[in-house]
Amino acid sequence: MPDHHAPLFQTLAVGDLELAHRIVMAPLTRSRAAQPGNVPQAINAEYYRQRANPETGASLIISEATQVSPQGQGYAFTPGIHSPEQVAGWKAVTEAVHAEGGKIFLQLWHVGRISHTDLQPGEGKPVAPSAIRAESQTYTHKSNGMVQVSEPRALETDEIPGVVEQFRLGAQLAKEAGFDGVEIHGANGYLLDQFLRSGSNQRTDAYGGSLTNRLRFCQEVADAVVGVWGAGRVGYRVSPLGGFNSMHDDSPEETFTALATELGTRKLAYLHVNEEFAGVERNDANDAVYRAIKAAFQSAGGGAYIACGGYEDASGADRVEAGDADLIAYGKLFIANPDLAARVRQGGPYNEWDDSTFYSGTEEGYTDYPALAEAAPA
Ligand code: PHB
Repeated sequence: MPDHHAPLFQTLAVGDLELAHRIVMAPLTRSRAAQPGNVPQAINAEYYRQRANPETGASLIISEATQVSPQGQGYAFTPGIHSPEQVAGWKAVTEAVHAEGGKIFLQLWHVGRISHTDLQPGEGKPVAPSAIRAESQTYTHKSNGMVQVSEPRALETDEIPGVVEQFRLGAQLAKEAGFDGVEIHGANGYLLDQFLRSGSNQRTDAYGGSLTNRLRFCQEVADAVVGVWGAGRVGYRVSPLGGFNSMHDDSPEETFTALATELGTRKLAYLHVNEEFAGVERNDANDAVYRAIKAAFQSAGGGAYIACGGYEDASGADRVEAGDADLIAYGKLFIANPDLAARVRQGGPYNEWDDSTFYSGTEEGYTDYPALAEAAPA
């Protein structure tokens, strides 16, 4: 192994888990659930199985974002965790991962306003903290290509406990499906993020206005999910500086250090920070915000900090070595390299990803990327 990569190959206790090394597979939408019903299927189990053995692949896999309810869906062909068929489909995934000695968390997702009436129960409007439409595009089973997301309606105050309940039920079903834990998707402009950030939350009830109020929904979801799993098997993902999905906050450092403190107080296993996504720059000022968030989470009692976004082997190792991250989540590199840890250990080479097949729906660009032994037969 190049000495330089050694920091990525230390074991780490994360919540209730012992991880073999620091290379995590990031959550990745791949749009390959069986229809009808958005059910995980055999090719999905094979894809995760290929990346599951910690000797060659991830020490922890975080599943693709998975809607907790029909209302929580924002794109066609994404999997759910709200029906018996989906639980059975995911069970085959977790069994395949565990047979390789791997660990996998399910990412619990509600898209809020990033949806379309085509995808909603009864073709209703998507729900959001406030009726503010995002400048975002999606695709539906009816659209021919990309379409603008629909105008949302603001959730009534008395509907909010029902949405928290969707997360609790998703967490419960993830347990039945054999996952090792769950990650709450609080990032990238989806429902939790919409409540948290000032630009998408103009409510005047207990869930909007002050920072304390904007934090409330996120805390209620975290408490519900921790109630099912225990904090040592729950992570939470944020994207503090990302503008993806028309997101904006008036003071991101204050907002996200406050959230990190709340989550740390609850002793969550990890905080997963999407540092660089859809155009966020990597610079000293942004890095300082991430350090402040990490410090807030960990000084309050939280577990590991997972950094994600544009990392390569050397830059990931540097980040861990510097103490700015405990784990590095790799996305596109893991799409193209099922045996990513084996490749990092020997300093490459890496297969290149083909972004035309990220969401294309077949085995191509999904389960057919070769591992080292296959790429270079002796
Ligand atoms: C997407 O499908 O484009 C997508 C899903 C989840 C994310 C980000 C993007 O967190």
